[in-house]
Amino acid sequence: MKICCIGAGYVGGPTMAMIAHQCSEHTVTVVDINQARIDAWNSEKLPVFEPGLDEIVAGARGKNLFFSTDIDQAIRDAEMIFLSVNTPTKTYGVGAGRAADLRYIEKCARKIAEVAENDKIVVEKSTLPVRTAESVKRILESNSNGRKFQILSNPEFLAEGTAMTDLQAPDRVLIGGDQTPEGKLAIQKLVDVYATWVPRERVLTTNLWSSELSKLTANAFLAQRISSINAISALCEATEANVDEVAHAIGTDSRIGPKFLKASVGFGGSCFQKDILNLVYLCEHFGLPEVAAYWNSVIEMNDYQKHRFSHRVISAMFNTVSDKKIAILGFAFKKDTNDTRESAAIYVCQDLLDEQANLAIYDPKVEVEQIQRDLGIDADHPNVSYCKDAYAATRDAHAILVLTEWDEFKALDFQRIYDQMQLPAFLFDGRNLLDLEALREIGFEASGIGKG
Ligand code: NAI
Repeated sequence: MKICCIGAGYVGGPTMAMIAHQCSEHTVTVVDINQARIDAWNSEKLPVFEPGLDEIVAGARGKNLFFSTDIDQAIRDAEMIFLSVNTPTKTYGVGAGRAADLRYIEKCARKIAEVAENDKIVVEKSTLPVRTAESVKRILESNSNGRKFQILSNPEFLAEGTAMTDLQAPDRVLIGGDQTPEGKLAIQKLVDVYATWVPRERVLTTNLWSSELSKLTANAFLAQRISSINAISALCEATEANVDEVAHAIGTDSRIGPKFLKASVGFGGSCFQKDILNLVYLCEHFGLPEVAAYWNSVIEMNDYQKHRFSHRVISAMFNTVSDKKIAILGFAFKKDTNDTRESAAIYVCQDLLDEQANLAIYDPKVEVEQIQRDLGIDADHPNVSYCKDAYAATRDAHAILVLTEWDEFKALDFQRIYDQMQLPAFLFDGRNLLDLEALREIGFEASGIGKG
């Protein structure tokens, strides 16, 4: 089968690379309007950093995996077309700040209607509001001219940083489709693709609407756990309880479970906030204001946590960080990715720049230009410098902020760092990554999240 994927981003690239790697009998072409991105996918330096991705792409590229900007041809050739374009929060008009901006999805549907010459199975891989498939179907069917289109929903549950292992051994794959004979046939075609390497019992099939809504619900539940433990972290700080101990104590209850109970400076990433905002908007649209308010509080708690962290830093440093050098260790929204979308580091850095601090930023994978775009600053901003490693960032610093849980930060020589810092040497661990006791023995004024 010939497969096409529209959108060569963090999801389209890795997912299609895995399908090509696992299914040598299928040919997969990933297309995008962004020429630079496609060039990067065809180069040695891929546009997405994920452990294990380079090897999988290198093994399949040019054999049964192709990256191209010839969108029309790829659509014409394909029997199955994945839509993996971005669905950001709308910034204009009705629903601005909450609803999903579906213009990219709609453009794809119209493009398929325009150029397809025969029947197609169109697979929603992007995260979409429930009932989007209805709009996609109407656009395609009103322009069908005798061609038949089946729409499937196949949301992606990979997490950045572990995308390749998640794709290799997913907890489940979800496929929603029409419950008509043609719909079931289309579902079966996609089941067969995944069944090449995913145990059949892990491939779940549902109707379209359950599948679309399950993705938003999964992200809402995951983010809610983080906001719940972060809310408790504030109470821990007020009461001398230790949030790691509380998380362990409740996580051993099998009804609660141990995962996603790590307190931090706040969740980031391109998905959680946007998908919950979208859920909130949908609830309001369907006349459910109480449900909307409930989920909105997950975001409010996350905003509170990010700003609470900056305020704690300022307050501990004698209520002023003006002209002080602050080392920022980590800018990505989590470890093992170069993605900074909605990273807590952006908000914390902006708070500190508002207070006229001097920031020395180091992240092992994020490009300097990306940091500048995220902070909305020019390359020569006088208060921000970019460092080649953690030692350069912490030289003469008044404080260190750990904002991403990169493994390499655990292996730093903190005695060496302490010796080159201004005293008192403050360290704020926004990820509860480091051994605070050991740091205090060196002399650091070290604090974490939710630890008294
Ligand atoms: P991205 O922004 O990295 O990639 C989207 C790509 O689509 C861009 O390269 C863009 O140029 C391209 N594109 C947009 N309109 C196009 C068009 N009309 N024709 C051709 N290409 C077009 O986005 P990402 O992170 O890959 O996300 C894609 C979808 O997957 C979103 O709906 C997101 O919510 C969802 N998702 C993302 C996850 C993540 O971890 N990033 C995880 C699970 C789902």
